[in-house]
Amino acid sequence: MHTVPSPAQIAHRLLPAAREPGREGTAFASANIALCKYWGKRDEALKLPLTGSLSISMGTLGTRMTVRPAAADCLQMQGEVFAADHKVARRLFGFLDLLRPPGLCLEVESENTIPMGAGLASSASAFAAAVRAMEALFGWDLPPRSRSILARLGSGSACRSLERGFVEWLPGEAADGMDSYGVGLAPPWPELRVGVLTLSEAEKPVGSTEGMRRTVETSRLFDAWPAQVARDLPRIRAAVMAGDFHALGAAAEQNALSMHATMIAAWPPILYWRPETVAALHRVHALRAAGLPVYATLDAGPNVKLLFPVSARADLLAAFPDLLIATP
Ligand code: PMV
Repeated sequence: MHTVPSPAQIAHRLLPAAREPGREGTAFASANIALCKYWGKRDEALKLPLTGSLSISMGTLGTRMTVRPAAADCLQMQGEVFAADHKVARRLFGFLDLLRPPGLCLEVESENTIPMGAGLASSASAFAAAVRAMEALFGWDLPPRSRSILARLGSGSACRSLERGFVEWLPGEAADGMDSYGVGLAPPWPELRVGVLTLSEAEKPVGSTEGMRRTVETSRLFDAWPAQVARDLPRIRAAVMAGDFHALGAAAEQNALSMHATMIAAWPPILYWRPETVAALHRVHALRAAGLPVYATLDAGPNVKLLFPVSARADLLAAFPDLLIATP
């Protein structure tokens, strides 16, 4: 019997041996929104998914990160200094431990162009930016697959934030997860837009790791989830390739609502929706019934994201004046 390697052992395998840092490294990574969702892990330590997933990048919405050698670890986020024992700092430096030689302290500056912890997957862009910033600091030239696997060790969905456009996360089968990473599928359609309706910036009551664990363990509806993904993923992939907006939107909306159904059926229930969430969904359905090309998707939080062609932009801004629009 062989044992599963630790995240540190995986990182060691993927990183070049020569590890002399330069003065600083800076990088940007876009957030991504899953059109076919990742929900449920087959390995928590290595963040390996039970199923595949597929996302679209969020253009200029993401994280810019700078890392530089320093006398002590220090994190500045949106200009605010985070104490080393703050949970955000602990998680980030714990991840950076995988990428840095022992004893190297780092000053990290991170700027998000999206609100944190509100289900907008700012962790995905942060961990992807961290990998790229460390790559710049050390002058590595990592193969795309290694970059994606390393980002995945920070946050699963981060493995989809290394490429622009549509990205598919191949779930893999190997126990060490060396076959579980994101691959760029196609460039973004020029006319596709993703809108973010920030309905609540409150920190989510249940994080994605706990949410997934609870859903897998207690939701009978989760038994149907792999079959749902097996149906939706090929539909979404085909719609991406064919440039078929309505097929893409319909499959993505059904996939997101199915994921939420599995969570709602967990115990204790995971109900991320606020009254504003339900109202926004009804509004989207009414606009669609009136002929507007728009579909909704939601992640682990109360906020609703809209998929639409740029031609619907003015009508959607009239309906949702606060809509934040990304060009993937
Ligand atoms: O990578 P995590 O742990 O932030 O999980 C992301 C989960 C969802 O956003 C709900 C779905 C997804 O595929 O991004």
